[in-house]
Amino acid sequence: MQNFDFHNPTRIVFGKDRLAELDQLIAADARVLVLYGGGSVKRNGTLERVLANLGERAVFEFAGIEPNPQFDTLMRAVELVRQERIDFLLAVGGGSVMDGTKFVAAAAPYDGNAADLLGHGFAGLPVTEALPLGTVATLPATGSEMNMGAVVSHQGGKWPVMSPLLFPAFSVLDPTLTFTLPQRQVANGVVDAFVHVVEQYVTYPANARIQDRTAEGILKTLIEVGPITLAEPENYEARANLVWAATWALNGFIGAGVPHDWSTHMIGHELTALFGIDHGQSLAIVLPSVWKARKNQKREKLLQFAERVWDISSGSEEERIDQAIAKTRAFFESLGVKTKLSQYGVQAHQIGDVVSALEAHGMVALSEQGDMTPEISRAVLEDAF
Ligand code: NZQ
Ligand code: ZN
Repeated sequence: MQNFDFHNPTRIVFGKDRLAELDQLIAADARVLVLYGGGSVKRNGTLERVLANLGERAVFEFAGIEPNPQFDTLMRAVELVRQERIDFLLAVGGGSVMDGTKFVAAAAPYDGNAADLLGHGFAGLPVTEALPLGTVATLPATGSEMNMGAVVSHQGGKWPVMSPLLFPAFSVLDPTLTFTLPQRQVANGVVDAFVHVVEQYVTYPANARIQDRTAEGILKTLIEVGPITLAEPENYEARANLVWAATWALNGFIGAGVPHDWSTHMIGHELTALFGIDHGQSLAIVLPSVWKARKNQKREKLLQFAERVWDISSGSEEERIDQAIAKTRAFFESLGVKTKLSQYGVQAHQIGDVVSALEAHGMVALSEQGDMTPEISRAVLEDAF
């Protein structure tokens, strides 16, 4: 196992009817900005309940954080925060709203040019303060509710923004708030959580048994509860397990002490930025082809994944790996998520644009080994077409 630090300060407030506790979770004299997306939380009544539970506090609203939150939109929220001397941010929504709120938390007290906060990637932000934030999560997918990361879109790129200052102070996870999700978003969320797990697990062995077995447990849970949730949107037990699985897929626990490979995410981000493909969909396209291209580098973990997650124990190594990849693709498709680039209206000649974008964003040494060149990414995309 590799050396690691593990510290996750986010309080999780999980279960039905927990919104009333917002009153105790936020200081009585706080000046609160409630941030949300395109209106789902208005239509389904969540916003109204949140506002009611904030009582007599000074409360302001910022609406319109779009999927794949845009820097320019978030800077309008930063202005409002500065103008109204806001001192607590409350995100009510999915990954985009939670991520956008994290960026606002870092940018509002930042004296320099906020666009400079976008270039630091996994190295972390050069900031010493951020506003405290909480979340009411309405979409199980990104894990943003219990991690220190965000992804902000700007000028044709998707920029990871990370800082330990951006862990939410608390996240309310009430599975019933996700009942109104369209099937497409539920399916995207299952795929996203699945791929978060495997990007921290299907790498090379590190003898991290707790992390591996937890990863396998999350994957098996997603395989069980994903289809039930789609078929029975108001099945509380399935939904509760989906919500908690998605949180655990990216709260740092399974990624501690093990190698990471974020190549599927990095290639997927370019597909979203260039073609508007949903984040989950982009991952379903890229992952099977990354595994085909990287079979040798990932051989031992692919075999472990085949046996422990898909119960594949017979056949040659090659056959077991191929079966595991095929089963994973079939799982995504069974959720209604298409796994080929051509099915999203992309033309073959546009693969070159994706490779150029990867190069422009410095994504030229991907994978757990740092040996995945733009040429390999091109081959992955051609295979995924
Ligand atoms: O905007 P509204 O009207 O709220 O509608 C949203 C949006 O259209 C809707 N929605 C959310 N909750 C709902 C609901 N509709 C009905 N009922 C509800 N309860 O769902 C749509 C998609 O929302 P979005 O927040 O964009 O989806 P998701 O949670 O999948 O977030 C995707 C974003 O997260 C980033 C992605 O890159 C993308 O920008 N990621 C963040 C990560 C992190 N912070 O750690 C890691 C991920 O890998 C990912 O990159
Ligand atoms: Zn993701």
